[in-house]
Amino acid sequence: MNLSITTSVCSACALLLASCACAHPATPTPPATPAPASPAYSAVDFGHLIGIPGFSPTLLSNHFKLYQGYVNNVNLLLAQQRALLDAGQQASPAFAELKRRLGWEFNGMRLHELYFGNMGGKAPLSTNSPLYHAILREFGSFDNWKNDFMATGRMRGIGWVILYYDPAPGRLINMWINEHEANHPAGAVPLLVMDVFEHAFMTDYQLDRASYLDAFFKTINWPAVEQRLPPKP
Ligand SMILES: [Fe+2]
Repeated sequence: MNLSITTSVCSACALLLASCACAHPATPTPPATPAPASPAYSAVDFGHLIGIPGFSPTLLSNHFKLYQGYVNNVNLLLAQQRALLDAGQQASPAFAELKRRLGWEFNGMRLHELYFGNMGGKAPLSTNSPLYHAILREFGSFDNWKNDFMATGRMRGIGWVILYYDPAPGRLINMWINEHEANHPAGAVPLLVMDVFEHAFMTDYQLDRASYLDAFFKTINWPAVEQRLPPKP
């Protein structure tokens, strides 16, 4: 019996090969109708933050450039994925690696927007706000929540600290996020986002991470954070 495999297969075998994880030659299958073009992501201008206490213009300007890089790469990855799909190369390792990388670049973009978006404030969280009362219900006191949030920020490693709101039970959770894409609670809403990658503070604070955390806390834009809290259903 001849068991050799050729590139010429019947339609039934082609379906089997499409789901096969072995090294059979993949047959390109361009889509009958190419997907329409989508608008590119644009970087948000956070220039109004230049001059806030505790953050030098050099640090912030460099951080904005890093953020712009994530936006550029999200657009690049999406375009490259689309090109491979249009060419029928969706079974290629290149397509798979672009898919794997997109979560890192996309969250790098979005988390920086949330981070810069919750900076530049001048006043503490209002004790009359729904968020303040949600913190009291979850943690017993504002200081308890702050201790948990800041302790998470002092953890070794690089990543993010995010106060999340889980709408199902209406609970608040301070989460540690490895890099950009790991450990996000599905379905939860990011309320307060703090960057603890070294680029966020080393220009001004070198290894004094604790002082950076204090400077960040003093510049939290609490009204912006409160706006992210969904209304109760
Ligand atoms: Fe950053």
